[in-house]
Amino acid sequence: EQIEKGGYDHFMLKEIYEQPRAILDTYRGRLRANQGIIKMAGIDEHLEKFLNANRIIIVACGTSWHAGLVAEYIFEDLVRIPVEVEYASEFRYRNPVITDKDVLIAISQSGETADTLAAIKLAKEKGAFVFGVCNVVGSSIARETHAGAYTHAGPEIGVASTKAFTTQITVLTLIALKLAKEKGEFSESKFHEFLSELETIPSKVERALESNPLVEIISNVYKDSSNCLYLGRGYNFPVALEGALKLKEISYIHAEGYPAAEMKHGPIALIDDQMPVFVIATKKGHYEKVVSNIQEIKSRKGKIIAIVTEGDEQVTELADHVIEVPETLESLSPLLTTIPLQLLSYHIAVMRGCNVDQPRNLAKSVTVE
Ligand code: G6P
Repeated sequence: EQIEKGGYDHFMLKEIYEQPRAILDTYRGRLRANQGIIKMAGIDEHLEKFLNANRIIIVACGTSWHAGLVAEYIFEDLVRIPVEVEYASEFRYRNPVITDKDVLIAISQSGETADTLAAIKLAKEKGAFVFGVCNVVGSSIARETHAGAYTHAGPEIGVASTKAFTTQITVLTLIALKLAKEKGEFSESKFHEFLSELETIPSKVERALESNPLVEIISNVYKDSSNCLYLGRGYNFPVALEGALKLKEISYIHAEGYPAAEMKHGPIALIDDQMPVFVIATKKGHYEKVVSNIQEIKSRKGKIIAIVTEGDEQVTELADHVIEVPETLESLSPLLTTIPLQLLSYHIAVMRGCNVDQPRNLAKSVTVE
């Protein structure tokens, strides 16, 4: 097992560090930035299904559901197709309206999650076209769907999902860009700008990983907290949810993710000098609005740990701690902002003596409902 961990103390840390390579593997054969091409067999063969879809329904569970939420922002923003994101367990039992003009995308690392599989079967019965985004080749979901795209993240052993999440977002981004181009939503130049930015993402993730020593210091300050709040807006709202889930899963600290502006409708009542608030405050995407959310936290003496863009000044002045990530397009920022939050939950769990790779009560793959 030590050999499999490749010199890391835990699979989770190894998998966090594998993300630049995993994203590159997910691009391989698909992203050809210099030729201005995205090639994905599963999409190319069924292009009309996607382009003629009335809407896209995304179903998933856990971390994969968070990747689905990021995809909702990307698809609606870039492709201009309505998207709904559903917990598979709710979707399958709520008598949903599904037609043969719907495309259902099921996201699952393992490809074995019982609720997601059941949602797929239901959608197929109603005539929808069903597309899978899975990591495990030949898994039940990969076999049950009409078409799909693998994430190529390599085996993920840690129960808390990390590289599966970022590669799911990567695949869904490639799909969205391809559809946006085909649908005529993009000019050549905008498409090229996206493709060349995508190419820089693995090295930018590498740079985001360099925050590790600082994240470890910050983790030590907040490791004994009983509650934490995670806030983000837009593309980074799902990242806030995922940050909170990671902390809950492996450190057993109660954490909640919220859209930053929704804070005033409830969570703000919890804020005092004992409450760490992790805020994603990158330069693009509602920056000024997030700054005012931060001021609201500060005036209630909450502790602010902000994920900011390299070179940030405004939030840096207000926050107790800042963690920098490289600048990128707003729609690609979740791939970077999620990195320090993964590291943070890892370090806090280790410091609290928790079993990082196999947290209590959780399973890597949930094959029962
Ligand atoms: C379990 C795992 C999570 C995962 C979820 C969905 O709860 O512990 O890490 O996100 O299942 O799994 P899937 O394999 O469908 O992505």
